[in-house]
Amino acid sequence: EPVVAIVVAAGSGSRLGAAVPKALVPVAGVTLLRRSLTQLAAGGVQQAVVVVPAETAELFDADLLDAPLPVQRVVGGAQRQDSVAAGLAVLPDVIADAEALVLIHDAARAFVPSDVVARVIDAVRSGADAAIPVVPVADTIREVDEAGSHVIDRTRLRGVQTPQGFRRSIIEAAHAVLSDTGTPVTDDAAAVEYTGHEVTLVAGDRLAFKVTEPLDVALAVAVAGGAA
Ligand code: C5P
Repeated sequence: EPVVAIVVAAGSGSRLGAAVPKALVPVAGVTLLRRSLTQLAAGGVQQAVVVVPAETAELFDADLLDAPLPVQRVVGGAQRQDSVAAGLAVLPDVIADAEALVLIHDAARAFVPSDVVARVIDAVRSGADAAIPVVPVADTIREVDEAGSHVIDRTRLRGVQTPQGFRRSIIEAAHAVLSDTGTPVTDDAAAVEYTGHEVTLVAGDRLAFKVTEPLDVALAVAVAGGAA
């Protein structure tokens, strides 16, 4: 089956404090967005929909010229979930196959290894409704409430990364239900779970970290092995 990725890059990146939208921040001369597209293509993705901020959409044109795979640009929304919905809305223009595999990826996870992408694709090809990469949690985590706080058994926790993979019909139906009911979610696997599907976990990688704060850029530069 064909594999298409929706790459969400419509965040402002305000926590990063950069002059350009976060996805266009260069690391060793290559933008986060282009790095993400390159890694997705290397892992088996054939086409992409890139979701960009409305105010700065034209800034993305130069970076998307000569992209490592065929790309369609679309404008996103206020929340990540709105941006994913905007990407799903143009899928019919991009791919006819109703049984295509859809990967949804944060542009900010620019260093995701291609084998993580391939594992997600393989899991959905093998029959999973949804497949997501996860990693063990390094910190001890405490849950805080009005009464105080308590520690959560760290061995039972996983950090969730992207790309998250789905059978097309399942993710389209899930997002339709969320928008009808106004239900907020922070990732796409939660959307699919909300509609009663099971989520399969595959091994993620620390390299799929999300570039969010200035410290992450320093790490990104080190990983890229070049000058900022
Ligand atoms: O804000 P955060 O880093 O969690 O965003 C994760 C991904 O979702 C980023 O790649 C960001 O560009 C994208 N996003 C989006 N539309 C929004 C908010 C975030 O496409 N409204």
